[in-house]
Amino acid sequence: MKERIRELVKELNAIILAHNYQPPEIQDIADLCGDSLELSIRASQTDADIIVFCGVMFMAETASILSPEKTVLLPVHDAGCPMADMVEPGALKAKKEALGNPPVVTYVNSTAAVKALSDICCTSANVIDVVNSLDENEVLMTPDKNLAQYAAAHTDKTVHIWDGYCPFHNNLTREDVLQAKARHPQALFVAHPECPPEVLEMADAIRSTSGMIRFAGESDAASFILGTEVGLLYPISKAYPDKQFYETSDKMFCTDMKKIGLKDVLNSLDTLSGKVKVPEEIRKDAIRPVQRMIDLKL
Ligand code: 13P
Ligand code: SF4
Repeated sequence: MKERIRELVKELNAIILAHNYQPPEIQDIADLCGDSLELSIRASQTDADIIVFCGVMFMAETASILSPEKTVLLPVHDAGCPMADMVEPGALKAKKEALGNPPVVTYVNSTAAVKALSDICCTSANVIDVVNSLDENEVLMTPDKNLAQYAAAHTDKTVHIWDGYCPFHNNLTREDVLQAKARHPQALFVAHPECPPEVLEMADAIRSTSGMIRFAGESDAASFILGTEVGLLYPISKAYPDKQFYETSDKMFCTDMKKIGLKDVLNSLDTLSGKVKVPEEIRKDAIRPVQRMIDLKL
């Protein structure tokens, strides 16, 4: 299957982009694995005709927003992100108006329709710099309350917080971290900013998924407890085979990120099924905040 997939990629002038949480066999056949920021940048720059996105719906939608002329395929169509569905355009408009129309900073983990109502996007890798890049002193951040609180702690601006969250990161507790530290007393604890503030307080470093991989390479430490989805254990262990990596808790398992298998990628390339196309009336507004973030070159 792997060979046939790579043959089709060549024949069709396709590219396979995979998020760091994807199953190992998917990461192994991808042209690029990365965090949301790296994958969006690559989706905006590739000259491939077809982008196969191994991730979840908001990632494929972002590729379609940036490259409307390309065919974007999400091999399993119901791979979504529960956090992205925690903000709905009507409610966002109402909240923005009630606050006196501050700029809206929207995490890329959001629907295209919500992006279309936003002023700028951010990812876990650039959130603080994105917020600080704005002229206004007040912002509304959607949909992740934990990412917003993390940004609020690192800016002088007033941050209004939407009440969304990642069900897996938000579930991590101080007790989970204490237990993991007791199991691995020498290890540093590196957390994703989608974790709650009381967990982030315990972290030696706070990073995006690819930021964690870079941190492990730069650090003198030999072992790390990862405060993020368990899928990151694969690429980080592959990058640094001489170092040790541990999950904080096995409950950090995103079922949507594990839906795509090799047979789905093969079928999608073979039949061009799983097309994701953001309608033009949404895309024309949704591209502004995404491109504005990319143009900051953070
Ligand atoms: P990253 O952009 O850090 O890879 O995070 C994406 C994500 O979905 C985290 O839950
Ligand atoms: Fe969404 Fe959380 Fe899964 Fe990331 S880990 S895709 S934020 S549900």
